[in-house]
Amino acid sequence: MGKSVYIVTFILLGVLISCENKKGLLPAKSAPLPVNACDSIKYMNGIKTIIDNACVSCHSGPFGSGGVDLTTYTNVKARATDGRLKDRITNSSNPMPPFGLMSSSKVDSVLCWIDKGGPL
Ligand code: HEC
Repeated sequence: MGKSVYIVTFILLGVLISCENKKGLLPAKSAPLPVNACDSIKYMNGIKTIIDNACVSCHSGPFGSGGVDLTTYTNVKARATDGRLKDRITNSSNPMPPFGLMSSSKVDSVLCWIDKGGPL
């Protein structure tokens, strides 16, 4: 009788400890991007998706709004280099998209990419 109480206690402890470990792993899995995510941002791994979703509906092809076509790396880079991209995505009184600036995390990603020279 005494022995089986010990055995049950050990089993319960084991279950408790393994649950603790699983709980401990969860936050690591859902952790936000590392602070240095900016270091690895490129056109192909993030910027293209942001521009495609927020800008290309109006800025596509030779007749894109304002004469701006943002469908290719070369064109987006050119607007980054001439400063117009940075101006408009941060200018709340003359914003792009016209109906309101993107979320600050998207704006920050694009600004970071511009500062790094617009890597492909
Ligand atoms: C709903 C349509 C629409 C969307 C979406 C849109 N734009 Fe525009 N964009 C315009 C129009 C219209 C103009 C021309 C009038 C103006 O400059 O405000 C323009 C002009 C521009 C210009 C030229 C500014 C200049 O000085 O010549 C840039 C750069 C630009 N947009 C960037 C962007 C970027 C970057 C995005 C996405 C973050 C975006 N736009 C999303 C409609 C849009």
